[in-house]
Amino acid sequence: MTAVPDITLNNGVDIPQLGFGTFQIPPAETREATLTALEIGYRHIDTAQMYGNEKEVGQAVRDSGLDRDDIFVTSKLNNPFHAPDDAHAAFDQSLKDLGLEHLDLFLIHWPLPGVGDFVETWKALEEIYRSGRARAVGVSNFQPNHLRRLLGGSVVVPAVNQVEVHPYLTQDEVRAFDTEHGIATESWSPIAKGRVLDDPVITRIANEAGRTPAQVTLRWHIQRGDIVFPKSVTRKRVEENFALFDFELGEADIAEISALNRDERTGPDPDLMNG
Ligand SMILES: NC(=O)c1ccc[n+]([C@@H]2O[C@H](COP(=O)([O-])OP(=O)(O)OC[C@H]3O[C@@H](n4cnc5c(N)ncnc54)[C@H](OP(=O)(O)O)[C@@H]3O)[C@@H](O)[C@H]2O)c1
Repeated sequence: MTAVPDITLNNGVDIPQLGFGTFQIPPAETREATLTALEIGYRHIDTAQMYGNEKEVGQAVRDSGLDRDDIFVTSKLNNPFHAPDDAHAAFDQSLKDLGLEHLDLFLIHWPLPGVGDFVETWKALEEIYRSGRARAVGVSNFQPNHLRRLLGGSVVVPAVNQVEVHPYLTQDEVRAFDTEHGIATESWSPIAKGRVLDDPVITRIANEAGRTPAQVTLRWHIQRGDIVFPKSVTRKRVEENFALFDFELGEADIAEISALNRDERTGPDPDLMNG
């Protein structure tokens, strides 16, 4: 098994570049799916209050027999809790549900620009960070205009920005803004929930490399420097998605996959999502 590389965040905390996503895994299946991922070698789990499965993720972390310090756990603030007092209470509830003393990363899930002032929400996350109960804090689904506003009113620079990225939505502008400000980009829906796997360019490159379309797509993210956490409840796929570190794509392949961009989202537009 080849080791998953770490990315060092802007506060010195290391995060495994490949993790396991848990969106849409029903609570009844989450413990087993997460335990399978941990058994295969994943050491980074991405969950959220919105997913309704934090209890089961925490159960798996505790049942895995692994040291808590060897697993990187991320959760995210749910949309109704942007008021600073609510954000504190929701964070406390996450720790309780997960049964953990601390989170490795806690994110504002959506900016909700039409709902309230996310700079005030961010101040609550800064307090949580200073308390040591989250080793790093960041944001999700923030566009450059949201980040500019956030950076103008905050002390702590977000460690990550978790946004939708895949070959049909390469997010060049957001990723460049993140890089310029020392913010790591996490790519959600890295295989576009499966939509890119039949793409002729990706299937051709996969055939040439003797790999699957999912592996080629995930490897493209890795070589671009992003953090990814594909989701699967299918053991064979969870194994497949982990086997990314014993091959490399050439620069021409990377460029060809990047050229597939058509600004196509599988999820909501962050500028329009308001609750
Ligand atoms: N911050 C946000 O707003 C946000 C939004 C969405 C997602 N996320 C995070 O990003 C993670 C990943 O995104 P996602 O779950 O939306 O989509 P994804 O990882 O791009 O795709 C998941 C889908 O692809 C299938 N799949 C996985 N591996 C495969 C493979 N090797 N071959 C064929 N099919 C495969 C899965 O099926 P099976 O499970 O049936 O095997 C599932 O239907 C989430 O789980 C979550 O942690 C964050």
